[in-house]
Amino acid sequence: MTETAGTAGTTAETATGTGGEVDGGAFIELDGVEKVFDVRKKTGFLKRERRQVRAVDGLSFTVSRGEVVGYIGPNGAGKSTTIKMLTGILTPSGGRLRVAGIDPSRERTRLAHRIGVVFGQRTTLWWDLPLIDSYRLMHRMYRIPDARYRENLDRCVELLQLQDLLDVPVRQLSLGQRMRGDIAAALLHDPEVLYLDEPTIGLDVVSKTKVRGFLRDLNAERGTTVLLTTHDLQDIEQLCSRVMVIDHGRLMYDGPLEGLHEAGESERTLVVDLARELPPIEAPEPARVVRVEGPRQWLAFPASASAAGLVAAVAARYPLVDLSVREPDIESVIAKMYAERAGA
Ligand SMILES: Nc1ncnc2c1ncn2[C@@H]1O[C@H](COP(=O)(O)OP(=O)(O)OP(=O)(O)O)[C@@H](O)[C@H]1O
Ligand SMILES: [Mg+2]
Repeated sequence: MTETAGTAGTTAETATGTGGEVDGGAFIELDGVEKVFDVRKKTGFLKRERRQVRAVDGLSFTVSRGEVVGYIGPNGAGKSTTIKMLTGILTPSGGRLRVAGIDPSRERTRLAHRIGVVFGQRTTLWWDLPLIDSYRLMHRMYRIPDARYRENLDRCVELLQLQDLLDVPVRQLSLGQRMRGDIAAALLHDPEVLYLDEPTIGLDVVSKTKVRGFLRDLNAERGTTVLLTTHDLQDIEQLCSRVMVIDHGRLMYDGPLEGLHEAGESERTLVVDLARELPPIEAPEPARVVRVEGPRQWLAFPASASAAGLVAAVAARYPLVDLSVREPDIESVIAKMYAERAGA
């Protein structure tokens, strides 16, 4: 990482603000991008089998400046691999890839000044140092002008509530605290695009809400382009105007979230606790009981329908003690989307 400090100070200033939009506004541009991993698997004593994993398989899309895009798909779909190629950590096996007009794997250092990245599963902070020391190192490494650094740091500290954490060594932070620290670290140098790979993983509800609010403001005020990978559909609902679904390294859907719900005819679940064990509730169509466990019953109903009518209908005829409504998760939406396609 130290190489960054040496070369890019001047390049960053000249590059910022202008370039990038080649081909009519595309800020991120992928054309038939592929990534194939060679893996060796032990198949017996001294026996190894070579196998190729096609993690990304001919991916083409563009993202314009200022867009907030959700990048979703099941485990192993190729999301993190895509993000690693977009930062230059991994080199594509084929196809063409540009971010702000830069080929990431060839000019990783120059690109580093224009992008920010947060990997929820890993930290970019120095493990043994107090949080503030990581920020000071980044200040120097990225040659951030002093006033700008102060301003960005103050803003992040306030909005991500890092005041009491700055002097704590990173290894002593909780997951949620560390994640907030990582998000701040990714933003100190005013990146034009932010890649977030599961930034809300393991966060409690309050922290999730804070992080989402922060990202929304960042996009509105600074016009930062955001590419967000998550397994939490609420992240997408609250942040993204556009969703891309990827599976087996291929793009399966690209459009608004509502379209995804329609494509997958996604359902919400009403969970009710009755006063006692009863046979499955006779719910008004199209709601139906999908699970019964003692006095608790689960009723699936279309995500587009209001829960209020269903609740009223159930409450009128059954001894209702408690209830909650569960949103569909991304995996079930995608699973339904595939089922629909296979059936069509
Ligand atoms: N360095 C690597 N070497 C070999 N195979 C890899 C490597 N990195 C990823 N893969 C494989 O590539 C595929 C895509 O992995 P990737 O991490 O991009 O998935 P993902 O969509 O991020 O999944 P998740 O939701 O679990 O994070 C998987 O089959 C994975 O095992
Ligand atoms: Mg991943």
